Amino acid sequence: MSVGTSRAPGGRDARRAPASRRGDLAELGIDPDELPDGLVVADEYGQVICFNAAAARITAVPAAEALGRRLEQALPLEDLEGRRWWQLTDPYGGLAIRVRQPERNLLLPQGREVLVSARFVRAYPTGPVRRVVVSLRDTEARRRTERSHAELIATVAHELRSPLTSVKGFTATLLAKWERFTDDQKRLMLETVDADADRVTRLIAELLDISRIDSGRLEVRRQPVDMGAAVGRHIQAYVAAGQPADRFLLRIEQPLPALWADPDKIDQVLSNLIENAVRHGEGTVTIDVTPAVAPREGEEEQNTATSVTVSDEGPGIPEESMNRVFTRFWRGSKRGGTGLGLYIVKGIVEAHGGTITVGRARGGGAEFRFTLPVGTPAHLL
Ligand SMILES: Nc1ncnc2c1ncn2[C@@H]1O[C@H](COP(=O)(O)OP(=O)(O)OP(=O)(O)O)[C@@H](O)[C@H]1O
Ligand SMILES: [Mg+2]
Repeated sequence: MSVGTSRAPGGRDARRAPASRRGDLAELGIDPDELPDGLVVADEYGQVICFNAAAARITAVPAAEALGRRLEQALPLEDLEGRRWWQLTDPYGGLAIRVRQPERNLLLPQGREVLVSARFVRAYPTGPVRRVVVSLRDTEARRRTERSHAELIATVAHELRSPLTSVKGFTATLLAKWERFTDDQKRLMLETVDADADRVTRLIAELLDISRIDSGRLEVRRQPVDMGAAVGRHIQAYVAAGQPADRFLLRIEQPLPALWADPDKIDQVLSNLIENAVRHGEGTVTIDVTPAVAPREGEEEQNTATSVTVSDEGPGIPEESMNRVFTRFWRGSKRGGTGLGLYIVKGIVEAHGGTITVGRARGGGAEFRFTLPVGTPAHLL
């Protein structure tokens, strides 16, 4: 039986019903337009008497157009097989014991997905339906997280496979033909295996960081941090590894406020930013450590934060990609790694209550600047 047409007496009450029923809600102090989810209510005749702002947004049908129309016309939902949903579910007919329709994924006319759940309000148990209350929820946000999870898994699988293929290939070859290789050849193969195993370990450590960042479980253990000294150590490590010392310029503006931060995590941030400047950039890498104003409001004092700016003289980040550099797996150049570095950097900086921005350096290259509020030692919180 199709809904409404055979049961409801046409548009008789169409004009009267909407205002009075909305009035009922208003008496309770509830404005349906305040609800974050779409709300559509049909009366005992199957006519729409409430169509809130969120419903209008989700369906792209103005409330004025929907009010007074039949539910199946105002909200022409189809299931994923393309069947008309109101005919299938038949709220006004069907089994009289039904009081609700659990959440389902349905389609709007333009093929847009929407999560729908409904209540069939009856005058008394098994009595006739007095109202059908439908809630609509946009699936966009949920879809997006689902998609990003699926993408994450695909990318991770891909990233893990190439080093593991090489580990497997070299070890299998060595085991099968051990006698046939010279010591030098064996050493070269083992070095490759070693480096690839390191890559897998590093990738897994990064993924663990990402899952902590995504689930808000990144722990910050605050201790006094001397930012200038920390940057200095990173530069020394590069110089010890063969980079010319004049590739780096460290400028520290004193006095810096005492900073409480997680030293290991700050090292991770610095190492990622400096590594990027060395690997993706060119020329001199300049690191400025300066006092700054805390990025959060509510603090009167000046210089309640520390800023670190890492800039280089390479090609920089193209303007149109700047909003993407902090996303997972985004890598611009062929020399890119896994594209997780800056995502983790941003997660760590934000876990400290700080901010990070990207821009163009005066010398033309990329400029990354992060600002950390001085922070409060954990035992004083
Ligand atoms: N200083 C820079 N100059 C030019 N491009 C940069 C610079 N820093 C980052 N990029 C671009 O941003 C991309 C993302 O950087 P990110 O650190 O997130 O990943 P990655 O360095 O490619 O890999 P990972 O850090 O995970 O090993 C890089 O691939 C690179 O194209
Ligand atoms: Mg990087």
